[in-house]
Amino acid sequence: MITALIKSPRKAADLIRAGGLIAFPTETVFGLGVDATNDEAVRKLFDAKGRPSSNPLIVHIADASRWSDAAATLTPSAEALLFEFAPGPLTVVLPKRTEVSTLVTAGLNTVGLRVPSHPIAAEILHVAGRPVAAPSANLSGRPSGTRWRSVLEDLDGRIDAIFQQDGHSLGVESTVVDCTGDVATVLRCGAVTTEQIQRVLPDAREIAGKSHCGAYEGVRSPGTMHPHYQPRAKVKLIDSPTSVEVAEGARVAYCGLLPIKKQDALVASAVFDTLDDYAAAFYEFLREADRHEATIIYVQYAPDHGIGHALRDRQLRAAGER
Ligand code: TXA
Ligand code: MG
Repeated sequence: MITALIKSPRKAADLIRAGGLIAFPTETVFGLGVDATNDEAVRKLFDAKGRPSSNPLIVHIADASRWSDAAATLTPSAEALLFEFAPGPLTVVLPKRTEVSTLVTAGLNTVGLRVPSHPIAAEILHVAGRPVAAPSANLSGRPSGTRWRSVLEDLDGRIDAIFQQDGHSLGVESTVVDCTGDVATVLRCGAVTTEQIQRVLPDAREIAGKSHCGAYEGVRSPGTMHPHYQPRAKVKLIDSPTSVEVAEGARVAYCGLLPIKKQDALVASAVFDTLDDYAAAFYEFLREADRHEATIIYVQYAPDHGIGHALRDRQLRAAGER
C-alpha cells in the first residue's frame, strides 16, 4: 500500500467514507481514523497498528449533539461534562448503541465518545457525516505521534493517507471518563485535569490503581494494561539531571525542566520552560532520542499538578517493564 500525503479535509473524509485508514491531527495527538460503522475497515485498522483486539477504540463525532450516533443514552454526568469540555480533549464512556460494531468497542457494551476541537479534525468529521473510530496514530506500544513525519515513520505503507500538517498539540491524549455509573470515574487521566472534571462533578474520582489514574489497572479501560508509549531506548525517570549516570559506551538522552550539563555521551537533550511545553514535546522527544540511537533516556519526572499529572502517567508507562 502506498501512503498518500494529503492536505484536504474533504479528501480525508472521502477516503474514510470509502473504508480507508487516514491519519489526521487532533488537539491532543494524531488520530488514525476509520469509518466506525465499517467492520472491514476497523479490522484493517487493528492490523495496521498491531493493536490487540481487546483494546477498544474511541469514537469521534463532529458535534456533541450527535451523541446518539454511537451511544444509547446520554447520562447526566456525560451531558454535564460535554457541555463544559466539548469540543475538546475529553472522552466520555457511555452505554453503546447496538449498531456500533463490537470490534470498535472490543466486545464491551459501552463506547468512548469524543468531540475533538482541532479545526482539521472537526472539518473531516463534519464532512464524513458519520462516527469515526480513531486510536492514536502510532504502532501499538510506541509513543503517540504528534507530528505527521512521526506518524509516517510508524505507519508508512500500512495506511492509506496522512494529513500533512503539524500544529500545536497538547501532547497528552484525552481524559477518559466513565459516565455509565452513579459516580463519574476518570479511567485515563489526560489533557483535561481531574480538578477541572471535579469542578463540574464534585463527586468524580480517579480509578484506583498501581499508579496515577489507574495506569496498569486495565480492568475498566482495557487499553491501559498493554505496554504503551515506549521508545526503543531504555527510559529512566529521575528527579533531577544531577542523577544522570553515564555508563561505558552509553548514548544518553535527557529531557526535563531543569538544564543538564553538556557532556560527550549526551546525544539528544531538550529542556522546557513550562510544563505545557514539556507535555507537548514529550512523545516527540522519545522518538528523537531513538533517531539518535540513544541507549538510555533520562526523563525528569514531571511535577504532579496541572497537565503534569497526566504527563507523569505517560512517563511511568514509557519507563514500564517490557
Ligand atoms: O486524545 C485521544 O484520545 C486520542 C485522539 C486520537 O483522539 N486517541 C487515543 O486513542 O488516545 P487510543 O486508542 O490510543 O486510546 C483509547 C483509550 C484506551 O485506553 C481505551 O482502553 C479507552 O480509551 N477506551 C476506549 N473505549 C472505551 C470503553 N468503552 N470503555 C473504557 N475505556 C475505553
Ligand atoms: Mg494510544
